[in-house]
Amino acid sequence: MYKNLIYDVDGKVAKITINRPKAMNALNEEVLSEMYEALLQFEGGSEKVAMITGAGKAFVAGADIQAMVSMDNLKAHELACLGHRLMNKIESCEKPVIAAINGFALGGGLELAMSCDFRLASTAAKFGQPEIALGIIPGFSGTQRLTKLVGTGMASYMIMTGEMIDAKRAFDIGIVEKIIDEDQFEDECAKIAEKMASKSIYALKAGKQTIENGVNMDILRGSRLEIESFAQLFSTEDQKEGMSAFLEKRKANFKDS
Ligand code: CAA
Repeated sequence: MYKNLIYDVDGKVAKITINRPKAMNALNEEVLSEMYEALLQFEGGSEKVAMITGAGKAFVAGADIQAMVSMDNLKAHELACLGHRLMNKIESCEKPVIAAINGFALGGGLELAMSCDFRLASTAAKFGQPEIALGIIPGFSGTQRLTKLVGTGMASYMIMTGEMIDAKRAFDIGIVEKIIDEDQFEDECAKIAEKMASKSIYALKAGKQTIENGVNMDILRGSRLEIESFAQLFSTEDQKEGMSAFLEKRKANFKDS
């Protein structure tokens, strides 16, 4: 079905692997469109969690430079819109989407990772917004999402120098949430995704949506949003099951989807 992706389902986890290793999984229009389709597939399916990763030694080395070299500004505008459409789709997806960063996450690759709910990085991963060396700036939301993650000073530094950083530095400045040894990376990422998928889908969705929607609100509106989301969960069977299981000292058995 997909030319550039592998969509695997393992239990309640969907693993979306970008599979253009010869081009370091660079994002061209076709890959961006297929990724969008894959997100629709995930939204419509019964999987509770999606994990995005890359085949070979890159997560994604950015937008496809070969495809961009001769673009005019109108084509570049279209490409940027396609990129933003995907990043916004990932961010607004009701269910959690994790980035499993196995290698280079550069330019559009870092932007893709930053649109996910959180980022797991292999010790082999490298990060950067190297667009400045190509005579451009990030075009798939790097100026916005990197700034939100690390602040204006650090985002300016990374975008204006194009410097590449390793996983430890990315963790220290708040780009990634967990670093995992390269040789255990796949297994550990799968375990984290499976653990999330064993939880209540209603709580996973509410957690994601309350964080995503609340981040742009002031504290009072954000608090009201949290109160509503928190209270709403008490109308689910999963809340009754989760709390009963705790009191009965057994493992909770949440609904499948
Ligand atoms: N687009 C197209 N092809 C790419 C690519 C990209 N972003 N990144 C790597 N490739 C290709 C290379 O051209 C090469 O192809 P050939 O074998 O046909 O020559 C192949 O992938 C392997 O790459 P290297 O030989 O360069 O591998 P390396 O291990 O020496 O270096 C790398 C790896 C550091 C990732 C290096 O390839 C690199 O710097 N890539 C470009 C990174 C970049 O500038 N990204 C930003 C793109 S612009 C962007 O993303 C804008 C935006 O915000 C939307």
